[in-house]
Amino acid sequence: MPQQIIYKMGRDYATLSIAPGKKVYDERITRRGKDEYRIWDPTKSKLSAALHKGLRDPPLFRGMKLLYLGAANGTTPSHISDIIGKTGIMYAVEFSPRSMRDLISVSRSRKNIIPILADARMPDTYANQLEKVDLIYCDVAQPDQTEILIRNANIFLKKGAHIMIAIKARSINVVIPPKQIFAQERQKLIAGNFQISEELNLHPLEKDHAFFVAKAK
Ligand SMILES: C[S@@+](CC[C@H](N)C(=O)[O-])C[C@H]1O[C@@H](n2cnc3c(N)ncnc32)[C@H](O)[C@@H]1O
Repeated sequence: MPQQIIYKMGRDYATLSIAPGKKVYDERITRRGKDEYRIWDPTKSKLSAALHKGLRDPPLFRGMKLLYLGAANGTTPSHISDIIGKTGIMYAVEFSPRSMRDLISVSRSRKNIIPILADARMPDTYANQLEKVDLIYCDVAQPDQTEILIRNANIFLKKGAHIMIAIKARSINVVIPPKQIFAQERQKLIAGNFQISEELNLHPLEKDHAFFVAKAK
């Protein structure tokens, strides 16, 4: 049986903390014996929002290696860190020095997070710190976010591995209707040699956001 990595607790999703006693944001905690479960807030994490909107098969597993673009101060990265466990590795790229300070502090109690202060538009600048990964998670909220993802995937993604991307329509264009933007970004992924396996609209948890899961061909 596959190991359980995401827990359903009533209406909530939760992850089993690899750093008990350390909160990352103002998440709620549930204890069962010695285990500490961190309730995954769907209003603070698009991956949790995607689960609440019906994401069936997030390509996550214990011990995996992933590249996270736009790690911010570590909210979603901390839950993925719980999921991949102590044998996994997350290369977490973030270009804001302010957010990076928080992320470094999170990584002190979560040794599977390797913070990288860099611009995700320039993967060559951090290529010497990385290896090939099983997943790229992209949440940079930039107009060229899909291009940024594809550029990184061409260098770091293993053949047949997965990507997840949160598309914020208003970061791309405030005039074009979100549906049209999602269709445009979908086409970019297909042209970039990805096969889309899941697509979700995150409304109303995240306004004008879509979430894609795809596999590299
Ligand atoms: C929406 S926030 C990410 C939230 C985070 N993924 C989470 O769920 O906890 C977007 C982040 O991407 C970062 N970012 C934007 N453009 C970037 C770039 N070109 N390179 C690296 N980080 C970038 C921003 O500084 C910001 O922290």
